[in-house]
Amino acid sequence: MLLVNNLSVGYKGLLAIQDASFKVNKGEIVSLIGSNGAGKTTMLKAILGLLKPMKGEIRLNGEVISGQPAYDVVKKKISLVPEGRRLFSRLSVQDNLLLGAYTVQNKDVIAESLEMVLRLFPWVKERAGQRAGTLSGGEQQQVAIARGLMSRPDLLMLDEPSLGVMPKVVSEIFTTVERIAAEGVTVLLVEQNVFEALQVCHRAYVLQTGRIVMEGTGPELSQSDLVRKAYLGM
Ligand SMILES: Nc1ncnc2c1ncn2[C@@H]1O[C@H](COP(=O)(O)OP(=O)(O)O)[C@@H](O)[C@H]1O
Ligand SMILES: [Mg+2]
Repeated sequence: MLLVNNLSVGYKGLLAIQDASFKVNKGEIVSLIGSNGAGKTTMLKAILGLLKPMKGEIRLNGEVISGQPAYDVVKKKISLVPEGRRLFSRLSVQDNLLLGAYTVQNKDVIAESLEMVLRLFPWVKERAGQRAGTLSGGEQQQVAIARGLMSRPDLLMLDEPSLGVMPKVVSEIFTTVERIAAEGVTVLLVEQNVFEALQVCHRAYVLQTGRIVMEGTGPELSQSDLVRKAYLGM
């Protein structure tokens, strides 16, 4: 579904992604793990067309999307749940969700999407009128994910969904990721929470200072010396 080929992305004078290649197959949960500053967000922004690659190519279902502007890329059934959630805190939960469907014209489709996200997040039903800013961190993250699903993406990209969520709620976020995948949505999960990200994914890539240094299944990476030493503190 997603193919990233020899991608390099830079900010003035700094190469944040260097010659990175990876792929996400339909139906997979793929984790991209790495510490702070490794280039994870840069990668997601490049995929979405918010940053222009200096080199390489990004394909979505065979079509080259690198070089296309973000407003065209978001129409292609790809959705990003940004780092830090970015909800409109003074708007209601329901209005935040509806804003996620801004690329959708058809009212029936929007109603159907709302039904789908309420099936995934039943608690949202009773809280639909509540201001988003008054929810807990974990609840806000779930609403942000739900908003990302309102455009009915084939590929959902999550930028550190466990960040700023209370430890006891973190596993709920990852369970949510698994339930989304069970609905047929392909997931690219970017995380610093390496332990949990490796538990839920089918495959994972390790990003270190802009380079992909390792790939494998969750269990393979959990058992590797590099991951155990650098990310799991073992
Ligand atoms: N807007 C920017 N301008 C210049 N450098 C940036 C910008 N955003 C990120 N960087 C740099 O690019 C590198 C990768 O950052 P980022 O993709 O945000 O990492 P991560 O999401 O893995 O924490 C870091 O060295 C960071 O300082
Ligand atoms: Mg980041």
